[in-house]
Amino acid sequence: MSKEKAAHQVFARKYRPQGFDELIGQPSVSQTLANALTTKRVHHAYLFTGPRGCGKTTTARILAKALNCEKGPTPTPCDECSSCREIALSSSLDVLEMDAASHTGVDDVREVIIETVALAPTRDRYKVFIIDETHMLSNSAFNALLKTIEEPPPHVVFILATTEVHKVPATIASRCQRFKFRPVGPEPLAEYLAGIAKKEKISVEPEALDLLARAAEGSLRDAISLLDQCRSAGEGKVTVESVREMFGFVPQDLLIGVASALLARDAKALAGCLKQIYAEGVEPAQLLKDLRAAIEGVYLVKLGAGEPVDAPWMKALEGASADGLGFLLRRLNRALEELRYGDSPRLALELGLFSALEAAHDLGAWVARLEALEKRLAAGGGGSGLSPAPALTPRAAPAAILEDSRGTTPAAPAAMGAIAWPALIEAVSKTKITLGSALERAKGEAAGDGYRITFPKAFDLDMAKRSASILEAALRSLAGRPVALELVLGSSDAPPVSDIVDRGMPEPATGVDAPPGTRWKDIGEGAPGAGTGGLKNAEGVFGGKARIIKKPQP
Ligand SMILES: Nc1ncnc2c1ncn2[C@@H]1O[C@H](COP(=O)(O)OP(=O)(O)O)[C@@H](O)[C@H]1O
Ligand SMILES: [Mg+2]
Ligand SMILES: [Zn+2]
Repeated sequence: MSKEKAAHQVFARKYRPQGFDELIGQPSVSQTLANALTTKRVHHAYLFTGPRGCGKTTTARILAKALNCEKGPTPTPCDECSSCREIALSSSLDVLEMDAASHTGVDDVREVIIETVALAPTRDRYKVFIIDETHMLSNSAFNALLKTIEEPPPHVVFILATTEVHKVPATIASRCQRFKFRPVGPEPLAEYLAGIAKKEKISVEPEALDLLARAAEGSLRDAISLLDQCRSAGEGKVTVESVREMFGFVPQDLLIGVASALLARDAKALAGCLKQIYAEGVEPAQLLKDLRAAIEGVYLVKLGAGEPVDAPWMKALEGASADGLGFLLRRLNRALEELRYGDSPRLALELGLFSALEAAHDLGAWVARLEALEKRLAAGGGGSGLSPAPALTPRAAPAAILEDSRGTTPAAPAAMGAIAWPALIEAVSKTKITLGSALERAKGEAAGDGYRITFPKAFDLDMAKRSASILEAALRSLAGRPVALELVLGSSDAPPVSDIVDRGMPEPATGVDAPPGTRWKDIGEGAPGAGTGGLKNAEGVFGGKARIIKKPQP
């Protein structure tokens, strides 16, 4: 190859590892394979799984060389014999590569594999079949392959590679020795890029490498190709600024500004950030993704589960609870989803951020208060000298929870499992995020023995009807029993039935039992019964005003 041409060879090809020792970030894979080769334990079928760009195809070729090298089988192929050289150039007659993404059919499998499998290797020790993107094969192709993989001739080795192992039939996968390739962390990625930059004499700011490494999301191929693009674009030094400019990454201080504004519920600050974001030409989707990634990092740290994150982020989100961040993450996810299916990214971005800001509250604090309330009620009305709440009698509490007084009352209130509306929204969002969004526009309440959800929009109601099974499952798991579900269209302007009253509060002494199925009615603050006993207690804990919601006379 001429010097000129070598200089323009793409990095991914130029820096493709040629031996197990050159593989980055896959120690267990390279170790196990090298050991097996040393001890000459050759399996007849391998399955390489893992995300794209982390070395599956590369390793398959190294393994093929290791098996067929003139000096082999050896963990250290010589790279000089004709077998090694031909395999490296993908021109060996005995190492056949098939890309299942473009050869999905049974005829392809027949032509490339079945018909040649019985023939002895042309020159080398083994006939090696590398099937890339194996999961793309059709069912009949898998079936044709299965027979061969079950009883291959002794000189045949299969190496299957896939990013989606769950799509490979178990019958096939169970015949293979499995190797799991892992996404590579940002630090080893950055280090690797630094090595290449040095060899290529590209001058790069270390922070710019960090940025590229993070953007590659675990893929060595992406990392290398990003660096490659910097090189081809670049005059002079590759800086954080130039990388941001080139790939549309959002400046960190701007991201932190958005996150801080959300947590502080500062609409003005958020608007300011958005203005700057538009001025910088940042893509709304990119902004949401970067924001999500950064907040997720802090969220995991707060849960005690994550790697340390950048200090400025830790500091910016210092005061936020894990619950609060979890809430934000869900909102960002939803905004991204809406952005994907909508026709105005900018609108989706603004709606997503501003509605998150409006709704953002510290759920952790909220839950703590609720627990305090429950404790005080359980202790007999709490230490504030208030009269014990009547909710404590086993009969009264479920009546308040489910408005059913027909004597089906279980012994303990907890056993009934009150259904908290936010908990239902959360549970449903986990399964189907669009349904969760629909619920946020709706109102949920106990109704008789069951649960009623009132949707202000027919569109949402239709979706809920189609996904009724999801709702029922969520209700069942929250209530600990099957709950009849009622989906209705109606206005949701009325204040939603408070979960607080629903869950913990007794029916006021003046409450009149109505026949089952009649609706609760909001009779407002200052009604008889307000400001007394348990309700007052609740007001103390929540720092608000309770509204009495009761059943009218029939
Ligand atoms: N583990 C690795 N170590 C070093 N380079 C790698 C590794 N994985 C991927 N690469 C780089 O990315 C390119 C593509 O890798 P490839 O093996 O085709 O990934 P996959 O098959 O997993 O999608 C390689 O040519 C190499 O430059
Ligand atoms: Mg591949
Ligand atoms: Zn060799």
